[in-house]
Amino acid sequence: MAEEKPLVEISKGLNGLEKIVLRQVRGSSTEVYLHGGHVTSWKNDHGEELLFLSSKAIFKPPKPIRGGIPICFPQFGGHGNLDQHGFARNRVWSIDTDPPPFPTASANKAFVDLILKPSEEDLKIWPHSFEFRLRITLGPGGDLMLTSRIRNTDTKPFSFTFAYHTYFSVSDISEVRVEGLETLDYLDNLKEKERFTEQGDAITFESEVDKIYLSTPTKIAILDHEKKRTFVLRKDGLPDAVVWNPWEKKAKSMVDFGDDEYKHMLCVEAAAVEKAITLKSGEEWKGRLELSAVPSSYRSGQLDPQRVLQG
Ligand code: BG6
Repeated sequence: MAEEKPLVEISKGLNGLEKIVLRQVRGSSTEVYLHGGHVTSWKNDHGEELLFLSSKAIFKPPKPIRGGIPICFPQFGGHGNLDQHGFARNRVWSIDTDPPPFPTASANKAFVDLILKPSEEDLKIWPHSFEFRLRITLGPGGDLMLTSRIRNTDTKPFSFTFAYHTYFSVSDISEVRVEGLETLDYLDNLKEKERFTEQGDAITFESEVDKIYLSTPTKIAILDHEKKRTFVLRKDGLPDAVVWNPWEKKAKSMVDFGDDEYKHMLCVEAAAVEKAITLKSGEEWKGRLELSAVPSSYRSGQLDPQRVLQG
């Protein structure tokens, strides 16, 4: 019998948009739209969806997709000519048929390489030439990895901010805890970016949250009590972490988001926001995100967060 191999398929998604499906032999899968270089689905071995995607998400470039993993580049949460989260999530990416070598071995992994280069129109709103290579990998155990490599192909330096704006699917936001950010400083987007220090234990949710945690550890855990599931987020090259839930009022003001959907999602975003990254001509930056979902037998206070975060 032929050995089973991970699969990579190109097919048509919603509105005929091109998507790539990665499948692992044990059953996990992920879907990536060329529109936005956007991961819209990540399922475990049992076929359970791990990412939140709004039932009202609009799949129509250049509108960004609400949910999954939008790529925020060349700015996160800024003003000016650019969309607040940049244009990478609004553009149609290409499959990169000739990526420069990756140092990591790819045996038993399913992956796809995408590339984005600025159009003439993009250069008018952000006058810097770049090559953005994005590798999306599904490991044999169902872990999802995103590696971004951004190269300055211009003659002058440029600076940017960045985020993997990940929307996690959760059973009930009021039952969720985030561990790994306690005692850190953050900028509160709901208070004109004033700086505060997080107090107390793990972070829980009972109202709108929009915070940029600064210089965080590389590992953050999201504990979903009801689902008995813990997401572990590992990041590299991305010092900050944005935590966002729009809650009831803001949810109602978003056309591409259901009124009650805030109860079932949480964004924890690996980011480089506080200090912009500067690349000289010819230089490359790398930012990596690795997501895993592990079953947790969490009963109030019984899961040792240190084990999750250190393991
Ligand atoms: C979050 C920001 O990351 O993204 C919020 O911190 C913002 O301020 C949210 O509202 C959604 O942004 P957008 O552009 O996708 O509606």
